[in-house]
Amino acid sequence: MKKSTKEKETNSWNADRYHKHAHFVSELALPVVALLDPKEGEKILDVGCGEGTLGLEISKHGTEVYGVDLSPEMVNQAIANGLEAEVMSATEMPFEQEFDAVFSNATLHWVREPELAVKHIAKALKSGGRFIAEFGGEGNVQHIVMAMRTVFERHPEYGKFDDFWFFPTPEQYTQILERHGFEVHTIELIPRPTPIDDIAHWLAVFTNGVTEHLESSQTEQFRAEVREILKKTIYTTQEGWMADYVRLRVKAIKQ
Ligand code: BEZ
Repeated sequence: MKKSTKEKETNSWNADRYHKHAHFVSELALPVVALLDPKEGEKILDVGCGEGTLGLEISKHGTEVYGVDLSPEMVNQAIANGLEAEVMSATEMPFEQEFDAVFSNATLHWVREPELAVKHIAKALKSGGRFIAEFGGEGNVQHIVMAMRTVFERHPEYGKFDDFWFFPTPEQYTQILERHGFEVHTIELIPRPTPIDDIAHWLAVFTNGVTEHLESSQTEQFRAEVREILKKTIYTTQEGWMADYVRLRVKAIKQ
């Protein structure tokens, strides 16, 4: 992985752990596939294809789906599952007016240069092509991020807390889209509290970019302390762990 790319989108992915503890990511995305409304014969780019679950679902509609993802582990898994896919950053895609639609689920909040990603998405689309995406919007995982920040503040030896995620408001994202030649058809924030098996697993899957510079004993301590804080805010004995997701769902058309 090139250094410049790693600085843009920071997390490393363990495909087995992701499959075991984060399968809800694709299971809950079927409304976004419905919004895409894939049509037979269409060529569709899946940005952040992960292990290929949604790309394969989209291909059942007689479409040709091409997946890109920054993680070699995920791309290997996607290919093993039957999706055509390649390791690539959303900010470095070479495609030019090739796709009828670009689809993206739970990816664009990881991209450190969101505007550059939208520029490349616009470039990949044919004129009149649609961009259908869902990712974290304003307020997404707010309790979880606050707990992580608190633990970093408690431990100055951890260094700076880098919460690099991009969770825009509909207004902010509309402006970005319009700057790159899109007309926004719909854009909405959708609070979606999401049951998860245990926040310890969620932290292990999703926050290794935050802890990658820590010793393993510090990472363990970090996760344990974050979990203790979150037990008071996103855990109940009735419902268990509930991640405070807020999705930004968008449909935009390239002019
Ligand atoms: C998400 O909204 O999908 C997400 C945000 C931050 C970390 C992990 C997942």
